[in-house]
Amino acid sequence: MHTDLIVAVPAWVLLAYLISGVCFILALRGLSNPESSRRGNITGMVGMAIAVITTVVTHAPVETIKTGIDAYNVNIDGRTALEILAAILIGGGIGLVIARKIQMTAMPQLVAAFHSLVGMAAVLVGAAAYLNPEAFGIAVRITPIASPSFVSILPVSRIEMGLGVAIGAITFSGSVIAFLKLNGNMSGKPILLPLRHVLNLGTLVAILGLIAYFVQDQHPLVFFTIVGLSFAIGFLLIIPIGGADMPVVISMLNSYSGWAAAAMGFTLHNTAMIITGALVGSSGAILSYIMCRAMNRSFISVIAGGFGAVASGGEAAAIDRPYKRGSAEDAAFLMAQADQVVIVPGYGMAVAQAQHALREMADLLKAKGVTVKYAIHPVAGRMPGHMNVLLAEANVPYDEVFELDDINSEFAQTDVAYVIGANDVTNPAAKNDKSSPIYGMPVLDVEKARTCLFVKRSMGGVGYAGIDNELFYRDNTMMLLGDAKKMTEEIVKALG
Ligand code: TAP
Repeated sequence: MHTDLIVAVPAWVLLAYLISGVCFILALRGLSNPESSRRGNITGMVGMAIAVITTVVTHAPVETIKTGIDAYNVNIDGRTALEILAAILIGGGIGLVIARKIQMTAMPQLVAAFHSLVGMAAVLVGAAAYLNPEAFGIAVRITPIASPSFVSILPVSRIEMGLGVAIGAITFSGSVIAFLKLNGNMSGKPILLPLRHVLNLGTLVAILGLIAYFVQDQHPLVFFTIVGLSFAIGFLLIIPIGGADMPVVISMLNSYSGWAAAAMGFTLHNTAMIITGALVGSSGAILSYIMCRAMNRSFISVIAGGFGAVASGGEAAAIDRPYKRGSAEDAAFLMAQADQVVIVPGYGMAVAQAQHALREMADLLKAKGVTVKYAIHPVAGRMPGHMNVLLAEANVPYDEVFELDDINSEFAQTDVAYVIGANDVTNPAAKNDKSSPIYGMPVLDVEKARTCLFVKRSMGGVGYAGIDNELFYRDNTMMLLGDAKKMTEEIVKALG
């Protein structure tokens, strides 16, 4: 019987994929700094263009030299090229419309929705490869003497395929739940099933066992049970997680989608996909780790899916305590007298789109000789880098923007902390109240400033974690109640 198979990828294709891989690595490097991030984005786009064009124009993704069977033919004819073009136009068109319409504040759910598509794409590619393995160059036709021939998927491809569809399906169902929770279609509260850890572990072990068994037996029942169980575990892993912990989950799902793509890259013999998938997978995992540290969560429990069960949905604010209320004129007076003002932006600034007014206010203060700095908490807003993006949009100079670790010690020498739409990231309960859902999260020490100004719409409104902030009632705090943009514009007027 004949079972030989040699797979060779043309050298120029390998080179093109390698170049696109290098572009992606340079893109990530560029994105690590706001100043080089535009260049990073462009480098990434160039890399993606090279990868897509190479894939589309490649006659065959692999040149397969088979002995004993007919070489398969995957040449792209006019019809295939048209189909690919139509798919790019439809997908690209939808992406363009969504990107133009989406509110910055709805970005987390959009990211979750997009991750679900990556997961589903991995499942579909895996299923297509399973159903037609010869077309993907991952099978041999075995012709036993005196028996009908049959197609056998290469054992290594079965493992890649099993892992790829499993991670893809987990990413899909997990991301759909994350989307529903963030979009308000489903309660953000944790849904705790009895024995969920046993159930999760059992399902996970079953999936891994079935992937191992798949190497022996490529029966459709084995393949589709892997897919079905993986959809189920994605769902089970995410429903116990509360809304407050969703940022880490989204970043984890981002990482999963990368690993799914990398596994599929092996199935498709596509080096660019392997590199890209591994980059997305590892950078997503690193980002999750950084966010876990920023929120004082255990990385392992995020992956296990049980975390956050007790961490979200605190009490509503206590509104009957005495507090000091000020006006825009009071704030302008205090800041104009200051040597140093540190601005702490949060989710409310994003909602109000107050970044341009803020920049104007900072310019006027600087013109009066006041030193102005911005303090950014790693999870301020609703997505990683949320505040940095908005400040960059308003052309705030990068050298005025500081990370938590670099500025926290400066509040003690600061005259005014201008906290605009930030709540949880300043809440001292994270430092001193063990029962608080945010206990352990590093926070900005704004209360150490001589005066702390808090801009928010009402005393009743709470932040993401749903808890009151004791700072609102302190002696050195002045509450500026109103919309962040309006209030800042009024301060600008008063300063002018
Ligand atoms: P939050 O704690 O959510 O507080 C937002 C504050 O903005 C509230 O006090 C709210 O009070 C005020 N606000 C809302 N709209 C406003 C407007 N138009 N004008 C003025 N104020 C307005 O925000 P934060 O301090 O940035 O903390 C972020 C939270 O989100 C953390 O708990 C974090 O874990 C979580 N989270 C972060 C991410 C990432 S990755 N950044 C993703 C998801 C969740 P009023 O309603 O009274 O105005």
